[in-house]
Amino acid sequence: MKRKRYLFILPALLTLGVYSCKREAPLPIKSPYQPTPVKPSDIFPASFGMPLIPKDNPLTEEGIYLGRMLFYDPVLSLDSSISCASCHRQEFAFGDPKILSKGVFGLLGTRNAPPLFNLAWQRTFFWDARQRRLRDLVFEPIQDHREMAMNVIKLEEKLKSLNRYQAAFRRAFGEEPNLHHMSLAMEQFLMSIVSADSKFDRFFPRNLSVFTPEERDGFLLFNGTPDSTTRPATGADCFHCHGGVHAQAIDPSIGIVSNGLDATITDKGYGNITGKAFDLGKFKTPSLRNLVYSAPYMHDGRFASIEEVIDHYSDNLKFNAPNLSPQLNHGNLHLQLTAQQKRNLMAFLKTMTDSSLLTNKAYSNPFR
Ligand code: HEC
Ligand code: HEC
Repeated sequence: MKRKRYLFILPALLTLGVYSCKREAPLPIKSPYQPTPVKPSDIFPASFGMPLIPKDNPLTEEGIYLGRMLFYDPVLSLDSSISCASCHRQEFAFGDPKILSKGVFGLLGTRNAPPLFNLAWQRTFFWDARQRRLRDLVFEPIQDHREMAMNVIKLEEKLKSLNRYQAAFRRAFGEEPNLHHMSLAMEQFLMSIVSADSKFDRFFPRNLSVFTPEERDGFLLFNGTPDSTTRPATGADCFHCHGGVHAQAIDPSIGIVSNGLDATITDKGYGNITGKAFDLGKFKTPSLRNLVYSAPYMHDGRFASIEEVIDHYSDNLKFNAPNLSPQLNHGNLHLQLTAQQKRNLMAFLKTMTDSSLLTNKAYSNPFR
């Protein structure tokens, strides 16, 4: 072994010798900091409109790649057992099929891990909309004692001690590993996850010919408004909160609402953030894209199937839920959709399925 190593060093010494003869003083090592900019229009579809990209964190290939490494790396957790991807799994649209996710030492959280895609357009994050910037958000799971339980000072030391991160941070930000650049890289990677390749995208904004008759009827139901007397209702009024290309009201002033799950509040949701009684039981409206992959549903994962969700809106809504959105109360009468209407609605929801998200190598584990 030893002998072999010397054999390698010998030519290296010789080359150094040649160089030092040519030059008087060695030149400073040229900084390898030359990140490759990523054109937003290359990754964000025009139909979505361009998202706001933070001016101080332009997307670069190296930045996104570093963020991707960090996302899949269990070194971010106390005992190096849990990565972001333990709970946000690509094969489930970056959600978790378990009602509650397991963090370090098998500890359980309190809410369902949402799927992650098209975050670049989002204005608030988490079910209770408590975060506004992805770079701030990442510190929550890292430090949460039931998730990754990591001390961030220790984390910085850990990253500095690993060769792979010394090189990757230098390439992405021109400096040695630090927490600020860690959060910016993760912000870049999270923003880069885009899901826009579904039948619904070929329909958008209104090419009804791509739909089967069932999907078309489901679409019309989804976008129809019920009157307060006709039952079964001729419109299911989903679009007020889940309309548009994102299938989600992104504007926080209309997207944070109660959809009537409980008469008695167990999770205060947005009310816990604002401290206001009229925000109790309100949650951020999720996107309805990729539902096929992201069961279970709602902030607490209470519904195992899309059928159960449709039954909730059709027959089980709690009209006495505190702060129920008026958009969901049509004269205190349930929608009472027929079995066929429910099937149509389901067929339409399934058009928002993008299987390429599950296999796109740009978001997959870089360590494999
Ligand atoms: C132990 C499981 C677990 C781990 C590990 C975890 N998350 Fe999460 N994540 C969750 C849960 C649960 C929520 C919802 C929490 C809430 O809303 O209060 C969530 C929410 C999010 C959201 C908000 C999505 C939205 O639509 O509002 C983002 C973004 C996110 N996580 C990214 C990350 C990143 C990045 C990491 C790694 C640093 C990470 N998560 C690690 C379980 C986890
Ligand atoms: C007034 C706004 C509003 C309307 C109208 C509305 N929703 Fe929702 N929807 C929400 C909110 C808020 C949530 C999250 C609630 C929670 O988790 O506590 C949600 C959650 C969901 C989910 C779960 C998604 C997930 O990832 O967990 C599905 C599916 C859904 N809605 C479908 C529908 C359908 C179908 C309709 C029409 C019949 C509809 N919604 C009408 C606000 C609305």
